[in-house]
Amino acid sequence: MNLVLTGPPGAGKGTQCRRLVEKYGLTHLSSGDILRVEMNAGTELGELAKKYIDQGQLVPDEIVIKMMVGAIVKSGYNYLLDGFPRTSNQALQLDKSLEGDLSVEAVIVLEVADERVIDRLSRRRICPVCSRVYDDLSLRPIRDGHCDSDGALLVQRSDDKPDVIKKRLETYHERTAPVIEYYEKTGVKMAKIDGSLNVDQVASGVSAFVESLS
Ligand code: AP5
Ligand code: ZN
Repeated sequence: MNLVLTGPPGAGKGTQCRRLVEKYGLTHLSSGDILRVEMNAGTELGELAKKYIDQGQLVPDEIVIKMMVGAIVKSGYNYLLDGFPRTSNQALQLDKSLEGDLSVEAVIVLEVADERVIDRLSRRRICPVCSRVYDDLSLRPIRDGHCDSDGALLVQRSDDKPDVIKKRLETYHERTAPVIEYYEKTGVKMAKIDGSLNVDQVASGVSAFVESLS
């Protein structure tokens, strides 16, 4: 199946995607992860993306659409989109670019209030080597500040600073929330799930919906 997982920053999209990949063998395509790989490698695209990401703004549509449509075509059927589409125009262009087996089949929306997002993102730390996510609330505690797997010193994402989190939330409400309305109009199957519950509870809601699709 081909799925889109959307929701505000810090809704738990990445966390739930990792579960879905493990359970259903989907290919996880995260626009944020792909852009961060480019940023860490210091490519031209990464340098450009960093200017937007560090200010809580969206990377221009034409760049992201090209990048993600390319990734979808490469991955083929059974993909899971995370963080894309993020504007109504991205959703429209995506629909225009994909057909048949590659079309989006269902959309999962994780709903989380702004205050919860701010709390989660200000606690989050990541491993710069393997990209694992750590925090003291969910499944992987920060402990001594080093990655359990490779010992690297955990860091804060450059866009997890309080003023940038605030801007990301504004950007979400203004530019990404309309994507949900877009999909509601197309009539694609959709589930809205309370993302403020604990990770296992959210995962059960997501799985129940995914299983209802087959
Ligand atoms: P992106 O990387 O997509 O970031 P985001 O959408 O802001 O989401 P996050 O990765 O911050 O959060 P998440 O929902 O994955 O939550 P997570 O599972 O980590 O995008 C970054 C930037 O790239 C954008 O701002 C933009 O500039 C650019 N970009 C990306 N895509 C683009 C596009 N399509 N167009 C244009 N620009 C684009 O969880 C968060 C924290 O909460 C973690 O610490 C986690 O452990 C914890 N947690 C998760 N679930 C729970 C739970 N149920 N209970 C308690 N804690 C939980
Ligand atoms: Zn690591």
